[in-house]
Amino acid sequence: MILCWNESQGSSIHSHSESHCFLKVLSGIVKEELFEWPSDSREESKMSKSHEAIFEENSVTYINDSIGLHRMENHSHSDKAITLHLYSPPFRSCKTFDERTGHVSIAPMTFWTKYGKKVLQNDPSTQDDDVVEVTENN
Ligand SMILES: [Fe+2]
Repeated sequence: MILCWNESQGSSIHSHSESHCFLKVLSGIVKEELFEWPSDSREESKMSKSHEAIFEENSVTYINDSIGLHRMENHSHSDKAITLHLYSPPFRSCKTFDERTGHVSIAPMTFWTKYGKKVLQNDPSTQDDDVVEVTENN
């Protein structure tokens, strides 16, 4: 997966669905914040940040669920960033977390394009054959 980040754009705090996640910065500078998993208790509590790192162009990093959760962000206020993500095995959804409460949501993986073709927006994450031809008149 290739992600394009606008200036200062960031992800939510998220898990990686028991997959391995390798990340390479293709362009720009990104910040990673690592968080511990919230406790199983039903009490709301602010999530605990365990580490923060800056990755410059061509840097490579790795995470999985046993390392923790993370949030990625374009560290620049003036330049865009591009990152390459390799997930093994692939997954269709991950968990996202509210930093203030630890509450969990399920987020489907969505794609703007697949195999160079624009993805239909009505259900982009649940089918592998959801790639459509886009003509100049669309
Ligand atoms: Fe991630």
